[in-house]
Amino acid sequence: MSPRTGTSIDNPLRRLIGMSATNNPNPVRGGRFREEPSAIMERINASVDFDRQLAPYDIAGSRAHASMLAATGILSVADNDAIQEGLDRIAREIEEGTMTWDPALEDVHMNIEARLAELIGEPARRLHTARSRNDQVATDLRLWLRDHLDHLDDALTRLQESLIVQAERHAASVMPGMTHLQPAQPVTFGHHMLAYVEMFGRDRGRLKDCRRRMNESPLGAAALAGTSFPVDREATAASLGFDRPAANSMDAVSDRDFCLEFLAAGAIIGVHLSRLAEELVLWTSPTFGFVRLPDSLTTGSSIMPQKRNADAAELVRGKAGRLTGALVSLLTVLKGLPMTYGKDMQEDKEPLFDAAATLMLVIPATAAMIGGMTVDTQAMRARTDDGFVTATDLADWLVREKGLAFREAHHTTGRLVALAEEKGCDLASLPLDAMRRVDDRLDASVRQVLTIDASVASRASPGGTAPQRVAEAAEEARRRYLA
Ligand code: ARG
Repeated sequence: MSPRTGTSIDNPLRRLIGMSATNNPNPVRGGRFREEPSAIMERINASVDFDRQLAPYDIAGSRAHASMLAATGILSVADNDAIQEGLDRIAREIEEGTMTWDPALEDVHMNIEARLAELIGEPARRLHTARSRNDQVATDLRLWLRDHLDHLDDALTRLQESLIVQAERHAASVMPGMTHLQPAQPVTFGHHMLAYVEMFGRDRGRLKDCRRRMNESPLGAAALAGTSFPVDREATAASLGFDRPAANSMDAVSDRDFCLEFLAAGAIIGVHLSRLAEELVLWTSPTFGFVRLPDSLTTGSSIMPQKRNADAAELVRGKAGRLTGALVSLLTVLKGLPMTYGKDMQEDKEPLFDAAATLMLVIPATAAMIGGMTVDTQAMRARTDDGFVTATDLADWLVREKGLAFREAHHTTGRLVALAEEKGCDLASLPLDAMRRVDDRLDASVRQVLTIDASVASRASPGGTAPQRVAEAAEEARRRYLA
């Protein structure tokens, strides 16, 4: 950050305010103020430290606005040419890192405008005609978010792809499916992967909804009431790729629904990633031993040489906290704000920026883990021996083959499970005569349904875990999400 330049008499920024007699470098303060802002006022007011990441969008918005002003005769063509050239140069300076940002100028908007005044003089002072920082910042934020929504959609697509590849590889790899984290019924690992593909598919849908609704242009709303200049809002909307101008000028400057919608979608993505990350933490633990992450995605311990910690997964799980926090934070900022703009709304940016940056970290990190993990199919199969996971198959067999009511079959199977537990064996190894003492309708053919492979193969209902269904579902997922 450059040193505070506020009090210097020959501050070049003063050109923007036409060399007024005041000693005030901040063009926003105009002729109204006799005193400088105090240091603490300046500090609480300044946002340029973080909102400078809006700069490319601010420049795009200003270019569109100036061109429209020229096209409607509000601004001369020569002034517009000078503004466009000056903005070009500022864009280059920002890219090269030579732009100096001054907190005395509050925010990204005033910094760019002031630099423009330094570069081109008088025409810069005409740029803010028929515009306010209120419609300007709302425009910048929407442009910023639109770009980020597109990047996030790409990142989620890559994550889905990594899951689909594992699903294809493991369409028939069996594992214990859980409810309550207790062994429930055997499933395939591929099926489990595709469950997440659906979750991230809905997440992409939410981002798409958000994008569709947010793509309206606030420009021309000015401070809150519209403007007395004959602006062409359709033109600025079209040139910035918006679908239409926002209908109501008051709503246009005070609405931050698009930020909330994004943050809500982001928080849900964070929760989804956190659930997957939690499973990776469990699966990579030797207690499960289902999954091994590559060395490149694993950390060691400073004291225990044997450790392979899934830190990346834990961080993905942990960062769900900041994503949820960002949503709650902005909801709380906006709650109770009267129409229209209030400076509280400057607090929208940090949660928004942090959420986007966090998502652009955790989504690719998860994709890397899923893409790089190796799955120990033997270990997963071995764990299906625990917990009598084919008990439902036995009950279903009693219903299908012997005509029992399901409730009776459930009860009978429960007794068989208790018997197996007593004998320390699994259901398939129960001696037939012992089984028949529980219910004499049981016969040897029941054994066929008690194997793990028979169990998963039998769950061939649409959306079920049968390997055949999983292979088809993976193909369908490719078509639906990766095309
Ligand atoms: N930095 C401000 C923000 O982010 C820009 C808008 C300022 N508008 C105003 N009326 N003070 O909200």
